[in-house]
Amino acid sequence: MNIKKDCIMEFSFNKLAFNASEKFGVLFLSDTKKLPSFLKSSAKLITETLEMFENFGCKFGEILVTTIEINGEIKRFLFCGTGEVNKLSRVKIQKLGGNIADKLNSLKVCKAAIFIDNEELKDQEDFFIENICEGIKLKNYVFDKYYVDKKDKHKIFLEKINVYSNSLNVEKIFSMREKIINSTHFVRDLVSEPGNVLNPDSFVLVCKDLEKLGVKVKIIDKKSLKELGMNAILAVGQGSDFGTFAILMEWNGDKSPNKNDKPIAFIGKGVTFDTGGINLKPSGPSITMMKYDMGGAAVVTGLIKSLAERKAKINVVGVIGLAENMPSSSAQRPGDVITSMSGQTIEVDNTDAEGRLLLADVMWYAQENFKPKIMIDLATLTGAIVVALGHHNAGIFSNDDDLVKKLHQAGEEVGERVWRLPLDEFYDDLINSNIADVRNVGKGGAGSITAAQFLKRFVQKNCAWAHIDIAGVNWLDDGGDCSPKGATGYGVRLLNEFLIKNYEK
Ligand code: BES
Ligand code: MN
Ligand code: ZN
Repeated sequence: MNIKKDCIMEFSFNKLAFNASEKFGVLFLSDTKKLPSFLKSSAKLITETLEMFENFGCKFGEILVTTIEINGEIKRFLFCGTGEVNKLSRVKIQKLGGNIADKLNSLKVCKAAIFIDNEELKDQEDFFIENICEGIKLKNYVFDKYYVDKKDKHKIFLEKINVYSNSLNVEKIFSMREKIINSTHFVRDLVSEPGNVLNPDSFVLVCKDLEKLGVKVKIIDKKSLKELGMNAILAVGQGSDFGTFAILMEWNGDKSPNKNDKPIAFIGKGVTFDTGGINLKPSGPSITMMKYDMGGAAVVTGLIKSLAERKAKINVVGVIGLAENMPSSSAQRPGDVITSMSGQTIEVDNTDAEGRLLLADVMWYAQENFKPKIMIDLATLTGAIVVALGHHNAGIFSNDDDLVKKLHQAGEEVGERVWRLPLDEFYDDLINSNIADVRNVGKGGAGSITAAQFLKRFVQKNCAWAHIDIAGVNWLDDGGDCSPKGATGYGVRLLNEFLIKNYEK
């Protein structure tokens, strides 16, 4: 399948100088309103110009675009307010970057120069620049593959940013960030693809393509799934003409693992289209959007891609389940009883609660084969999580406080947040079945918790496990600080941060 290439966006990092060939300059002003030092010779002119805009207070996020004549040449400038610099965080600086990208694109600017020489930013110049660039690149994304006439519809013009500063290290630091952002874009591409193009069969090819980066890819097709007893994932896909697969992707970047070192496993729900099955979803946005029900699998694939591209010194396995949930004469019926790979029987109370069926087998497969010390699954699992948390936090459920703490910290750091919800025995009672070991829908309320409680029955002893329900954060109709309308690519930056901070050598 032809996966869209990363949005072209080039950064160059240069020694500070006022390069006369730059036509569009981006400058930052904090609440002190002090001009960057290198502008000395034109300071009077610029100050006078700024004074004309008496409502521009240099508050955080304020933007002013104006032209100034310097040495007989007309230059365009974007002034971006930072507010108090000691209140800036990674997420806040990235938000500024996102705002700048939006503004430059709305002005149809292709190339801009960022000049940083602010006294107040001296102590955090590297930090500031890398996060400004990250925000710009994250926001500068469009899924325009299907416009024939791109010129009219294209919303992205920005292609080149030249950064001028005194900082020497930024280029190196940013090159790693860039790889992670490219994978975020890759996930957005996958999530944006419609269900007729990205189906289980074509998703397999996307994974297979990671082999060229040194990822070990194993494809488990219907026949092998049957042999392995993975009847729960098979049941989800049995109404579809496309295949059903589990895909194993291994990144072994740590060449000298301790003998007892077990990998960290990431599991993803990849329902390439979720009609609900025989419990068909009603027509309307709830079914139309269900092309994005493979968001979990996309994040796991994107994570593995980013680890391989930045040659991370860590051993990670990704396992995704791919299926299409369709109603047909071969589809599973409400009330069917299936035997999962774990041996536990499941009453399929509702064919639209398919994600947990698929995950039950894929999680079990990962544990049987790798005995991971940590297992994290990501899934657009429940509509109820959107009711509970909206679009600013994913839901996290776990049997391990330390794991939650680490993921929560990473999430706060990069602005891909998780919020914990409980697991407990009394919720577990809600999924007991009269005919099988467990049923796939809870009796009454707590829809996201009972879904997580279902998954917990497929977690083995001694495995620290976290389930992240990304149904509310995988797609933003109105966009976010650093993502345009549509797919967010949520998760790639969260999980990279989590691994870098805690586990990479
Ligand atoms: N893929 C959906 C969950 C979903 C809903 C994601 C809305 C994003 C937005 C999942 O497979 C599903 O259909 N869940 C049902 C469960 C119910 C039948 C118990 C739901 O949330 O309604
Ligand atoms: Mn469903
Ligand atoms: Zn689903």
